[in-house]
Amino acid sequence: MTTNDTREITVTVDGRRETGVVSDRTLLVHWLRDALDKRGPKIGCDTGNCGACTVRWNGTLVKSCMVLAVQVDGDEIETAASLAEEDGTLSRLQQCFADHHALQCGYCTSGMLMTAADLLASGEEITEHSVRRALKGHVCRCTGYHNIVKAIRAAAGQEVPPPHGSEPREAEVR
Ligand code: FES
Ligand code: FES
Repeated sequence: MTTNDTREITVTVDGRRETGVVSDRTLLVHWLRDALDKRGPKIGCDTGNCGACTVRWNGTLVKSCMVLAVQVDGDEIETAASLAEEDGTLSRLQQCFADHHALQCGYCTSGMLMTAADLLASGEEITEHSVRRALKGHVCRCTGYHNIVKAIRAAAGQEVPPPHGSEPREAEVR
């Protein structure tokens, strides 16, 4: 049932049609997490600064803490869950994050993945610089940017050095 300040919305989320009743003030990230149990988008700052809540809205990246749920009525939203294959197999990009130790605590990961997937699909030349520029709107609280950049470059088919922190210690190579 809707009231004066609530509305029914229907949104395709990760390929599935979802209907819900939201307040006019409900943020998209809150609706995705609280009503739909979508755990990809995280709430890191609620002010559009950290990128942890990044999703695609009709194919365009947005920070879902900056969008009202009512704005996406009738539209399509994709979270990081949409990146995996239908049978749950990780995408090449997701696998590269695992292989290159780019996950750390994981809080920023799904936002990073959304932006990285967008960059890889854009056809832009993938370089250390273009990856770092694309990730500009993302903050990793674990500050482990080196391995995140390597993982994205590896997903683009580039040879990258082993993950930062995985080099054998001096005592181990003797
Ligand atoms: S929670 Fe949306 S940008 Fe930080
Ligand atoms: S991996 Fe911990 S915040 Fe980025």
